[in-house]
Amino acid sequence: MSQNEPVDMKRRNVLLATTAVMGAAGATALLTPFVKSWNPSAKAQAAGAPVSMDISSIEDGQMITLEYRKAPVLVVKRTPEMLELLPKNVPLISDPDSSASVQPEYAKNDVRSRSPELLVVSGVCTHLGCKPSFRPEVGAADLGGDNWYGGFFCPCHGSKYDLAGRVFKGVPAPLNLPVPDYNLNGTVLTVGES
Ligand code: FES
Repeated sequence: MSQNEPVDMKRRNVLLATTAVMGAAGATALLTPFVKSWNPSAKAQAAGAPVSMDISSIEDGQMITLEYRKAPVLVVKRTPEMLELLPKNVPLISDPDSSASVQPEYAKNDVRSRSPELLVVSGVCTHLGCKPSFRPEVGAADLGGDNWYGGFFCPCHGSKYDLAGRVFKGVPAPLNLPVPDYNLNGTVLTVGES
């Protein structure tokens, strides 16, 4: 375009809008931990197709969320310290053996998982379905102080779960967070298949 050509304002606005959107997407990418995933189409996902994710970039003590059947699944890379503290919750937990709760056979154990360091649980509170927040800080004053060894807190009505997804006594949620079927092949986690 020469200096003397009139500016096409409509096209210019479209270009500016596109640049703004790309800028926002770039900023979001910087703030969110990168986790490589291979997700099926939305239709297949809604029907329950397995969802895979490379979890090698999850840091010790970090939680990421993936979506399976249009619902959140929480994945935590538990540290040795987190695992050591789990037994301290037993007197505070409603169903410490998970006998009334949902999990595959391979997750019917003290840590409710295939391999101790990796927790994979539903991110849907068993009370009325809100998403619990990750609260790993030991001794958090607003969650029980000395009796809090890290876990999840549901902001809707105050239910608390430990870092095995086991629900505390005296809260509205009746059951532990369900463990979905999942498989671990190297660093690839697949939710929705055993
Ligand atoms: S939905 Fe979580 S406590 Fe009510």
